[in-house]
Amino acid sequence: LKVDPSLVHRLFYPQVPLVMAARSGRRVSAMPVVSYASVSDAPALVAVSCRPEGFTCGLARKARSFSLSILEKAHAGALERLATGSGAKVSDKLREAGLAYAVGGTLKVPVLDDAVATLECSLRYSRKFGDHVLLVAKVEDAWASEAFTDSWDFARYRPLLYSGWKGGLTIFSEG
Ligand SMILES: Cc1cc2nc3c(=O)[nH]c(=O)nc-3n(C[C@H](O)[C@H](O)[C@H](O)COP(=O)(O)O)c2cc1C
Repeated sequence: LKVDPSLVHRLFYPQVPLVMAARSGRRVSAMPVVSYASVSDAPALVAVSCRPEGFTCGLARKARSFSLSILEKAHAGALERLATGSGAKVSDKLREAGLAYAVGGTLKVPVLDDAVATLECSLRYSRKFGDHVLLVAKVEDAWASEAFTDSWDFARYRPLLYSGWKGGLTIFSEG
């Protein structure tokens, strides 16, 4: 079957969503992202593609920093709230979504209490491609739960796998 080119990102599902969070002044915002990649190991560089009109994307560009966090299945409801509301309407979107956080150890980015892993990233490059902006950032610090010792122990880490949006966030179940 032919696939509309604007939908090819859906062929990549299921994917582990990350929460991208940023803070500037008193403003805190966050959103789930799946358009991300690890682009270099040393230095550690990661990339996220975001819609330039999005509030969280704008806040991360303004702050020139953001965090990327992994949440487990229990937090699917909070992810859905972050995906539906806009950070433009509330002063602290993470708090509104019920996600507690502290300010990072290295950068002034939100670090989620319930994350199984968090990266603290400083923005290095930002360039528009088509209808998205690609943010390339240096990983200044990274944290993970004890389920990660140079790689994940999947007996202890149960990844949330995003499989699409069908009137809400849908999760791929391994059966
Ligand atoms: C699982 C999932 C992944 C998403 N991935 C991205 C992404 O990679 N880039 C993006 O710009 N939006 C992505 N979105 C959409 C944003 O999360 C959504 O537009 C959000 O409401 C933006 O919030 P904001 O207005 O605070 O910026 C994704 C949504 C979901 C549910």
